[in-house]
Amino acid sequence: MNWNQFWNQKGTQSHPLEQVGRIRNGKVLDQDLMQRIAKRIVEQAQIHKSHAVLDVCCGNGELSRLIFPHCASLTGVDFSEILIQQARQMDAHHQTWMVGDAATFDAGRKFDRILLYFSFQYFENKDKAEAVLDNLCAHLEPGGILLLGDIPDSRKWFRFYKNPMDWLRYIRQTFTKTNTMGKFWNPNKLAALLEHRGLRVEIEGQENWQPFSEYRFDILAYS
Ligand SMILES: C[S@@+](CC[C@H](N)C(=O)[O-])C[C@H]1O[C@@H](n2cnc3c(N)ncnc32)[C@H](O)[C@@H]1O
Repeated sequence: MNWNQFWNQKGTQSHPLEQVGRIRNGKVLDQDLMQRIAKRIVEQAQIHKSHAVLDVCCGNGELSRLIFPHCASLTGVDFSEILIQQARQMDAHHQTWMVGDAATFDAGRKFDRILLYFSFQYFENKDKAEAVLDNLCAHLEPGGILLLGDIPDSRKWFRFYKNPMDWLRYIRQTFTKTNTMGKFWNPNKLAALLEHRGLRVEIEGQENWQPFSEYRFDILAYS
């Protein structure tokens, strides 16, 4: 799957939440739910008013915008030029938006908190994931917190692909390279990659009200 092409194409859709795949059962998530997701992120990552926050894979900034009020500054990075353009257009707070790949961008500074939310599944092999984690660690202040959130859990694959029709669809999409779900990660393996980089790690399940909690997990990493 060419993810850059995929997300640039999504960026042409009319509803801002559709542009970042914030859809469940064919409907875009409502703003109250988005607010609740943002509130949980702020609590999990212990974001304070004094913090510089980096939101990697920020898309059009729909979620980032709900985090602004809780921090000192927010920098968003995404490799989709179209989505970053939308983020700049919608931003009344003059935050910083950068086009860049999660594995290679250089923001030229470090951050107190780094978020990578609802996006780790697009790093489909270990080399890519390692390059992304190296880059995130290089941007994290000592004492900082990294939140990798909303990641499909490989141990719960059967909760997403529930029946033989789903399995057939998965096989067909894998062969035709049209699978848009990306990779389901094993939380323990991902935790090991972070620990290998000297971070202390906590794996967290999601709360029932979260839109895809039945098969997703979060990871908090402390430098
Ligand atoms: C599902 S959206 C999530 C947006 C936002 N984080 C949220 O939680 O609503 C996934 C985003 O990841 C971005 N993305 C995927 N792979 C990327 C990469 N290698 N580098 C930078 N951005 C990437 C896509 O462009 C897209 O905006």
